[in-house]
Amino acid sequence: MKEIQKILIVANWKMKITSLDSAKKLFAAEKAVGNKLRHVETLIAPSTMYLEPLSKLVTGHRVLLAAQDVFYEDAGAFMNETSPKMLKDRKITHSIVGHSDRRARGESNAIVAQKIRACLANNIVPIVCIGETERTADMNHLKFLKTQITESFAGLPKAALGKIVVAYEPVWAISTTPGARDATPEDCREMVLFIRKVLSDMFGLAKSNHIRFLYGGSVERDNAEAFLREGEVSGLLVGSASIDAKHFADILIVAEQYVKSR
Ligand code: PGA
Repeated sequence: MKEIQKILIVANWKMKITSLDSAKKLFAAEKAVGNKLRHVETLIAPSTMYLEPLSKLVTGHRVLLAAQDVFYEDAGAFMNETSPKMLKDRKITHSIVGHSDRRARGESNAIVAQKIRACLANNIVPIVCIGETERTADMNHLKFLKTQITESFAGLPKAALGKIVVAYEPVWAISTTPGARDATPEDCREMVLFIRKVLSDMFGLAKSNHIRFLYGGSVERDNAEAFLREGEVSGLLVGSASIDAKHFADILIVAEQYVKSR
């Protein structure tokens, strides 16, 4: 029997939860729902500060933790950084890398490339965020994306591709971007196909087919199914809606029902 591909839903709490007590309550509520779903893998990405205490609350393998960012060296005189080695030591298996918030604060494609390599060397799955800041009538955003992809994935061994998750996140659709507009599943599909093409030119079609894609940017309970059905993705990266336990639970349930309806 062909194995049904699971949907991956990532909760990106950013720095919005600011007490351990609320982090524990939110994690417990999201875990309770996620643990019941057979067709959905859930990753919760709290602030680094809460990874360790929340790791003690993980039960089973359906709801796990991810870091929001990671450094590219294993150890050394680097202040306030978290190394992939430290994540591995605490059994954290995934990290978001190259989120637009970090890119806006100076993270270059070259740094993202180093972080991806450091994750892979430590068996951490990088969830690499890719996305244009704006769309332009002359299609310049495609050039921008191509450079972002080529530089961010530079120097990776082909075999690594099966261990990478790519999140397409158009910055103009992220809920906290001033003047954010909604992206459509069609916008997403076009760009995921484009990103796949760039990656297959770099690494070959067979390998690039193994990459898992997510969509992120104002995902809510009302648009989650459309992105999964029509967006060419097998998962979602959820920001604002993930800090509301009920709203996030609804997104998880929508994803589970979507798989069952296929
Ligand atoms: P949003 O955030 O869902 O609030 O738009 C997504 C993200 O920034 O990862």
